[in-house]
Amino acid sequence: MEPSVEEEISVEDEAVDESIFKDCSKIAFYRRQKQQLFKKSTYQALLDSVTIGKDSTRFRIINEATKVPLLAEVFGIEGNIFRLKINEETPLKPRYEVPDVLTSKPNTVRLISCSGDAGSLVLADGKGDLKCHITANPFKVDLVSEQEVVISINSLGQLYFEHLQIPPLKQRATREKEDASVNTSQENLGLWEEKFRKFVDVKVNGPASIGLDFSLHGFEHLYGIPQHAESHQLKNTGDGDAYRLYNLDVYGYKIHNKMGIYGSIPYLLAHKLGRTFGIFWLNSSETLVEINTEPAGKDTVTQMGPVAAKQKDSSRTNVRWMSESGIIDVFLLTGPTPSDVFKQYSSLTGTQAMPPLFSLGYHQCRWNYEDEQDVKAVDAGFDKHDIPYDVMWLDIEHTEGKRYFTWDKKRFPNPKKMQALLQNKKRKLVVISDPHIKIDPDYSVYAKAKEQGFFVKNHEGGDFEGICWPGLSSYLDFTNPKVREWYSGLFTFSVYQGSTDILYIWNDMNEPSVFRGPEQTMPKNAIHHGNWEHRELHNIYGFYQQKATAEGLIQRSQGKERPFVLTRSFFAGSQNYGAVWTGDNKADWSYLKISIPMLLTLSITGISFSGSDVGGFVGNPSPELLVRWYQAGAYQPFFRGHASINTKRREPWLFGEQHTRLIREAIRQRYALLPYWYSLFYRAHVASEPIMRPLWVEFPDELETFGVEDEYMLGSALLVHPVTEPKVTLVDVFLPGSSEVWYDSKTFAPWEGACTVKIPVGLDTTPVFQRGGSIVPVKTTVGKSTGWMADALYGLRVALSTKGSAVGELYLDDGHSFQYLHQKQFLHRKFCFCSGVLSNSCADERGHYPSECVVEQIFVLGLKQQPSSVTTHSPDGKDQPVAFTYCATTATLSLEKLSLNIGTDWEVHVK
Ligand code: GLC
Repeated sequence: MEPSVEEEISVEDEAVDESIFKDCSKIAFYRRQKQQLFKKSTYQALLDSVTIGKDSTRFRIINEATKVPLLAEVFGIEGNIFRLKINEETPLKPRYEVPDVLTSKPNTVRLISCSGDAGSLVLADGKGDLKCHITANPFKVDLVSEQEVVISINSLGQLYFEHLQIPPLKQRATREKEDASVNTSQENLGLWEEKFRKFVDVKVNGPASIGLDFSLHGFEHLYGIPQHAESHQLKNTGDGDAYRLYNLDVYGYKIHNKMGIYGSIPYLLAHKLGRTFGIFWLNSSETLVEINTEPAGKDTVTQMGPVAAKQKDSSRTNVRWMSESGIIDVFLLTGPTPSDVFKQYSSLTGTQAMPPLFSLGYHQCRWNYEDEQDVKAVDAGFDKHDIPYDVMWLDIEHTEGKRYFTWDKKRFPNPKKMQALLQNKKRKLVVISDPHIKIDPDYSVYAKAKEQGFFVKNHEGGDFEGICWPGLSSYLDFTNPKVREWYSGLFTFSVYQGSTDILYIWNDMNEPSVFRGPEQTMPKNAIHHGNWEHRELHNIYGFYQQKATAEGLIQRSQGKERPFVLTRSFFAGSQNYGAVWTGDNKADWSYLKISIPMLLTLSITGISFSGSDVGGFVGNPSPELLVRWYQAGAYQPFFRGHASINTKRREPWLFGEQHTRLIREAIRQRYALLPYWYSLFYRAHVASEPIMRPLWVEFPDELETFGVEDEYMLGSALLVHPVTEPKVTLVDVFLPGSSEVWYDSKTFAPWEGACTVKIPVGLDTTPVFQRGGSIVPVKTTVGKSTGWMADALYGLRVALSTKGSAVGELYLDDGHSFQYLHQKQFLHRKFCFCSGVLSNSCADERGHYPSECVVEQIFVLGLKQQPSSVTTHSPDGKDQPVAFTYCATTATLSLEKLSLNIGTDWEVHVK
């Protein structure tokens, strides 16, 4: 019998119970690695086996006891990246290597073998600054830059590699013995079978775990490896407390916890004064990361063949990666600056996709908007209360019994008409499409997928069946390119009945979530395309669904329109396909607060387009919390209000006039800043610059910034410090940079950098500071949605540095198509204020886009003296005096009613 909605929700509620998820002590490969079970002795590199090829240098590594040879391969990759691969030389059968994450085959640079003595090999890239020292016995790799060891690999001897074996009969007998002793003190090593609660994971390949240690010399600050509801800076892990990377559906997840939640990016960044470094561990099986910082001791000198390299900063952080299966494939991103590391990572995995402009507006979601009348009323509510919004969302209840790509005929009898209504308001619709497909031979999506063998299989060869929203379901095997192609085709307008070109997609439950499955997900021995076990690729399942969806939306427009796809589960590279949100958070202040570090972590690991459910998904926020959440969300990249089915309605106008006004104001601030947001997305897309930036990224030389996570930079111009506590009247804001000046965006008061200031906050205040030296483009009027604002006038907010200058930029295109890419239909302008002259000039000559839009207002902050005249100069030589207002108390100059075309060169002279 099908579970009712209420039962389904209570199934989800079960997930709050932590005991349904494993902690480290319940993970067999972790226990084995901790015991170094298969590592009878150290590994040795056989340097007489070295072959130096065009792309890589190969040599054998051997465990002295087992004598099973491993093959190591070192690659130099363009842009100061090293790659180390270690696999069995002759595995019983191929081991899984993660496909489709690297956007292309990395361009290798030839490594030259420099002098090394008999016990070592030194490889250098052409430029010679970075050298890779390989020590034979025991096997160790040091990466050296300018006589300094930056990172050592396997210096702690934790290289771990379980060789594939034929299950010997004897072992079976042992297994039975093990099973019998599970409840005794004897350790269950889970070699061929692993038990957890009522679940038994039978492992046809036996133990296949891998691991390796990395010592980062002089580094004490590490970040990355999302997704955890944890602080931005990674913490030291105690025994049994590793960061877990295993995509799981954890409803109302606990915060300050290292358990795995919806997505995984096995990539961390380490930062110290003078260098940022990245480690990207390309493995999609369950992964654990241990971190251990050893404080500074004495200087040590490491002897590596002919070179004695000094480890100058003698504190270090050891990172130990452990994965259940696959191979060791690790990329070392050598920086040296944060922005170099961002570029290095995106040269491998791609940059943030350029989103359609509407998706940067405000999104209104709820589980569920009941029917077409409800949608109409909520949409009208925004207009009635003069609150801008761009996108209406429909959750699972809009479908016929959770059959995605269908409409509930009673509630949504006329979806096209409903979309036409939204389209008339220049708004969009997003609907949900999950990866589980209801088992129902009369449901065409199911029948076709079944017929073509497109579902994930169980280990007996039948279609895997599990329970999710629709009841008993099968799961599309998105790892199969044919399945992706077919799924993409389902978005074609003629196939997806009732869809129009304003409809976009939300992929949820794609960890995948399987109610009552082991840890609420798919058994690890389910079988995918190519006969790979689910365990090999669990963490990349959701990535593939979003990829297929994004490609489907592009195809339905014949390649013309940019897609928008929100996903809950993700992996390295998901940035190419759309946006991510942080899942089922709670309507509680602590979840508002942790949204900042969670998004910062996503942001520096490539995913700039991210957000958290505004208001908190589970539970009912107080009006104060809701207002604060809107204020915070307005300054986070993906801005969506969402709420669970069993919460009270919370549209922005339901909490009295004062709260409506405050929420309206927060959303309007977002819309006013859209030109800045869009320009930041462009920079993320073309130059790999994160949008939400931790302070350490902008101020890498300032130690005080390394641990800050209650505030952040939006681009390089705005510092945002959301209020995340109740009844606050004063907020401590840290303003970095000893030579900086910061302007309060509300009062215009200037503050010197390198100090913490106390800022009074009413319920109407979001502390935002503009950095001296920046120019921020804004819209001076806000409309019903981004679509209404295409021709709205621009303003420039010029904040002068201590030297009296400022720079900024604006990117502009049609906001929805790929013409910016294929026809270079865009404008990229550069603003510069220097010696009293503000100029608008072209930042990229390749781009052209006809725009009648004008700058009507210029606001200069920090102008110390009243000007005697202000004139505009256009390229045709016409000079015109401009009326201005100067306020000596706030040192601000304001120019209004200008008419300076945004796309042409001009100057404004302030004398
Ligand atoms: C999951 C999602 C949530 C959604 C619900 C119903 O819990 O995280 O956002 O509303 O499923 O589809």
